[in-house]
Amino acid sequence: MFERPEAGGTVVLVSLDFGNSDYQDSLSELVLLAQSAGLQVARIVEGRRQRPDAALFAGSGKTEEIAAAVQETGASLVIFNHELSPVQERNLEKALQCRVLDRTALILDIFSQRARSGEGKLQVELAQLKHYATRLVRGWTHLERQRGGIGVRGGPGEKQIELDRRMLANRIRTIEAKLEKLGKSRAIQRRARSRGGVLSVSLVGYTNAGKSTLFNRLTHAGAYAADQLFATLDTTSRKLWLPEAGSVVLSDTVGFITQLPHGLVAAFHATLEETAQADLLLHVVDSASPNRDRQIEEVNKVLEEIGAQAVPQILVYNKIDLTGAAPDVVRDEYGKISALRLSARTGEGVELLKQALTEFAQAQHPKLQTETVTDGME
Ligand code: GTP
Repeated sequence: MFERPEAGGTVVLVSLDFGNSDYQDSLSELVLLAQSAGLQVARIVEGRRQRPDAALFAGSGKTEEIAAAVQETGASLVIFNHELSPVQERNLEKALQCRVLDRTALILDIFSQRARSGEGKLQVELAQLKHYATRLVRGWTHLERQRGGIGVRGGPGEKQIELDRRMLANRIRTIEAKLEKLGKSRAIQRRARSRGGVLSVSLVGYTNAGKSTLFNRLTHAGAYAADQLFATLDTTSRKLWLPEAGSVVLSDTVGFITQLPHGLVAAFHATLEETAQADLLLHVVDSASPNRDRQIEEVNKVLEEIGAQAVPQILVYNKIDLTGAAPDVVRDEYGKISALRLSARTGEGVELLKQALTEFAQAQHPKLQTETVTDGME
């Protein structure tokens, strides 16, 4: 339903430094995001400012520089590494004679490309509707943005906009109702599972940390793993059998990133709800990333936001094939495993993780062990 950048299209990225310490990280992430959306980055325009310009976000001098970059590279799209107001977006499109997206719209676009389950799709659509509802003035006809030539937009009259707004509000309500229903049925499934005494373990982590690769390694599931951000959007769950501890339900979750648009945090609450209810979190870390410590912090911050901070956690330092570290287990002062090192790709150290899961399961359900083992022998 939403217009999206053409795959393979060229793009000029704009990133302004307002003095935040994570400026470089957020710019590298924007480049990865654009590539994940299938775009070619033709140029990156950077600048420094005290605060955003009210009309153009970037200020008029910088806007001219961006316009020149668009001309020179023949880019069809400009993406700002920031949130733009609808007015700024409109002014920029006029000034640059080119389509302009902000970081939120780019993330929404990637999410919409990746959503696979019905629920994931609904959640993304809801976030998109909410994001675009504020931008309605620009011209929609029955939920489709009307486009003229580049930079020239035919806008429907006020009446049409009012009508579209009502349709949008209706659609938002319908989706919210559907999601609520889906959430309820998931809660029932979850209750059924917990009655069965099955341990639930969620893989969480920053995007690209290797969650899906580890999930596959553990369950031999063949879930999609790719060097793209958000290769997995929905929670996928599979049963894993541990000979000495019985069944464990393992769930792979959506990757976390910094500055996740607020609307998305809310929209993905249902997806992440599972995480908050898990018995154990395996927090997967790309130990080869120079930003790994900041990424760990970011993930913990989001976990706190969704009320999962009290769930026991094991830090899984992945990708040791790249760092050269040896597989290893770290125990806390009570003798519990708090971290380990492995490579999901080569499989080195994965046995240690299975042992850690077995230990955890046995400590959680000392009685369950004998019951499930008997089960398995039937
Ligand atoms: P999102 O879906 O974005 O949240 O990513 P994810 O955390 O599920 O990561 P995924 O498993 O898709 O892996 C991301 C990239 O890292 C892929 O190219 C993997 O092949 C690679 N990768 C995963 N584990 C390892 C590892 O142990 N070593 C190396 N060298 N690469 C790995």
